[in-house]
Amino acid sequence: MELIIEIRNISKSYGDFKVIDNVSLNIEKGIIFGLLGPNGAGKSTLIKVLSCQSRPSSGHAYISGLDVVSDKKEVLSIIGVVPQENSFYDELTINENLMFFGSLYGIINIEIKKQSHKILSMLKLEEKSNSRASDLSGGMKTRLNIACALIHKPQVLILDEPSVGLDPVSRKALWETIQAVNGEGTTILITTHYMEEADLLCDRILIMNRGKIVIEGTQEELKRKVGEKVVQITSSPGIYEVIKSKVGSIEKVTSCIENVKGLKITHTDELPLQEILEIFISHGEKILNVGSSSPSLEDAFILASGEEWH
Ligand SMILES: Nc1ncnc2c1ncn2[C@@H]1O[C@H](COP(=O)(O)OP(=O)(O)O)[C@@H](O)[C@H]1O
Ligand SMILES: [Mg+2]
Repeated sequence: MELIIEIRNISKSYGDFKVIDNVSLNIEKGIIFGLLGPNGAGKSTLIKVLSCQSRPSSGHAYISGLDVVSDKKEVLSIIGVVPQENSFYDELTINENLMFFGSLYGIINIEIKKQSHKILSMLKLEEKSNSRASDLSGGMKTRLNIACALIHKPQVLILDEPSVGLDPVSRKALWETIQAVNGEGTTILITTHYMEEADLLCDRILIMNRGKIVIEGTQEELKRKVGEKVVQITSSPGIYEVIKSKVGSIEKVTSCIENVKGLKITHTDELPLQEILEIFISHGEKILNVGSSSPSLEDAFILASGEEWH
């Protein structure tokens, strides 16, 4: 396994406020890695450290063995960063924009043209290469924003919440674009607060909360950590204080959490459902619904962090 990103005990504080708290992480070359977490988790801050826009308060991070602080110039030449706001110029055509961004990296024109051609065909923008950026559709603008970050053939493409504000169709198109870029061998680091996006798009996921790592792994690993199954019981009147502790002490139950629908129970092996329902009934609850499902990433987050996803 070849590592492309190594994060060693990174912390970042603003005054007394620790936004990143001792995060260590390895990211393997060639994968799509998702940094998932609720708003304020510290995702953008970590991305800024990795893309040399912000210095860590302590710790080190390396991209392809280069230190993001002391080897900043070299790091910037091997990463592409897709900012949340479009970075291209509206009044320039697609080709002119790529020419501009390429020249910023000191690439000679003929090389820029070659690379532009490749990128535009990959991102399905070829036919629009002479159109002004301002005349492009929303989806095409998103792709042009990505194209500008690829002109210098980066080894790693970093995207900070690229799908915020996109409708479901554009979001799916964005995922296809990211997969196409990854298919060419570029490692992808993407942040998102959409569980579904991380679940469907990424090879591995790190879930962050309050500047700390909650859990990291493949979707399967994360879900397995939750226990094998989830049972949701809805009942009335829904007074769960005592029931929760009784159900929680059953051997195979890994967690028992009250939510809007009632009680959500995660468990390994077969659950003694009869025994559980009897606990409900003996405490005056009328069973309204019992549903069983596979654990979601949200379940993994709740269990590992002890907090609701917000
Ligand atoms: N420049 C800054 N000064 C002070 N606090 C900041 C600064 N940047 C971010 N924060 C705080 O750090 C926390 C994490 O922010 P951020 O990394 O943007 O989270 P995320 O991208 O996961 O939503 C938030 O509480 C935010 O208010
Ligand atoms: Mg952010």
